[in-house]
Amino acid sequence: MADFVGAVDQGTTSTRFMIFDRGGNEVGRHQLEHEQILPRAGWVEHNPVEIWERTSAVIRTAMNTRGLDASDLAALGVTNQRETSVVWNRRTGRPYYNAIVWQDTRTDQIAAALDRDGRGDVIRQKAGLPPATYFSGGKIQWILENVDGVRAAAESGEAIFGNTDTWLLWNLTGGVDGGVHITDVTNASRTMLMNLETLDWDDELLSFFDIPRAMLPQIRPSSDPSRYGVTLAGGPLGGEVPLTADLGDQQAATVGQVCFAEGEAKNTYGTGNFMLLNTGTSIVRSKSGLLTTVCYKLGDAPAVYALEGSIAVTGSAVQWLRDQLGIISGAAQSEALAAQVEDNGGVYFVPAFSGLFAPYWRSDARGAIVGLSRYNTNAHLARATLEAICYQSRDVAVAMEQDSGVHLDVLKVDGGVTANRLCMQMQADILGVPVSRPVVAETTALGAAYAAGLATGFWKTTDELRQNWNESERWSPTWSDEQREEGYAKWKKAVQRTLDWVD
Ligand code: G3P
Repeated sequence: MADFVGAVDQGTTSTRFMIFDRGGNEVGRHQLEHEQILPRAGWVEHNPVEIWERTSAVIRTAMNTRGLDASDLAALGVTNQRETSVVWNRRTGRPYYNAIVWQDTRTDQIAAALDRDGRGDVIRQKAGLPPATYFSGGKIQWILENVDGVRAAAESGEAIFGNTDTWLLWNLTGGVDGGVHITDVTNASRTMLMNLETLDWDDELLSFFDIPRAMLPQIRPSSDPSRYGVTLAGGPLGGEVPLTADLGDQQAATVGQVCFAEGEAKNTYGTGNFMLLNTGTSIVRSKSGLLTTVCYKLGDAPAVYALEGSIAVTGSAVQWLRDQLGIISGAAQSEALAAQVEDNGGVYFVPAFSGLFAPYWRSDARGAIVGLSRYNTNAHLARATLEAICYQSRDVAVAMEQDSGVHLDVLKVDGGVTANRLCMQMQADILGVPVSRPVVAETTALGAAYAAGLATGFWKTTDELRQNWNESERWSPTWSDEQREEGYAKWKKAVQRTLDWVD
């Protein structure tokens, strides 16, 4: 009998494959980065073929290292960077263009136009999203308008669209030899094309972007007992494993953090930060700049929705210190550098590199470092960078409380940046609530594995999964209320500068 479940986590900077046992413990993993292609200011692309190759490689290596084969896996789940858009030819398997990444702002004119004639409000109402460069709809439109031959091929159903979940599922199940063309409700809810109530593509929304329905994948539950397909014997697993889960990475992390009850929330710290609050089966529309999104749909059970605060630049601001400024040699060093000083020395850094996402939704905002004096050093800038991660999370936590009335007693955190203890302490100080990290910090892959295993009966109920959640570390606030509010007021002033910058 198969003792494990596998999960592919196709993220913005890397792809990993993880293997979990019934207790939700990690038993194997491998991870590879892929190239960030930055052809112009504001443009961010990935090579889909490279992503598929890296996915195959991480699966093979993780399985071989543990001496496992396909028969050891009860199921396989896929989770992915959301919104990033690929259009490829279903006959040749070749992408027409690089994947346009969620951070890419080339579609700013497309997004702005939606708000000039009332279409924006229809999108808000039907899709739960504010028109923005972030989502897939504008990216697909851009490819249809700018890449030769794609429109005709899309109308005939030869050119097909998918986020990276769809691309990988298609390849894992055979590609040109009959790969499945599917996505799940969570990924579809990030396109501006799906109606949150019907959970289907919406003809009016499709017409706003002039997108032919024939190019879109079938929308399936996030965890599907009737399985999407099986992996191919000739593929990286070397045998047939049922593919039973697909969900966007932030929704997967919500499942991995076992936020199954209404009012439960998590905050994931990766390239960006994403706070999701489970709102149960009701669609809560935000008045405070949050997104309404599908949290998950388990088989035939009704869909569960979430409010989401998406922040574009958090961990990637630390990478910027490393790659563009060269003031640290690795992400871990940001903690040591920031710890050299007691406070930010008056410096506030708003890393609005992709404009500002939640709760501002200003694609024209640009980054700013304010409050500098001759006294300041690299250490203050490192500290201000970590604080920016935490202040942005406070902005979305405030919005969430306004929209839902739910006051968080504790913030469940996960993701790479949570290894930075100083940053987690700052988060508790800036938010004024304790911060709690689970033993398995890779909750994204874990959530995809949970969704896959629930579909096959490997795990029977979500209550069983709750038993697997254990806290590894907790940080409690140490700042006085006065200190907290003074810092936050200065942060808000700094944010205002980034909004004023472009007129
Ligand atoms: O919406 C974008 C998000 O899904 C990306 O997550 O962890 O790949 O940066 P991550």
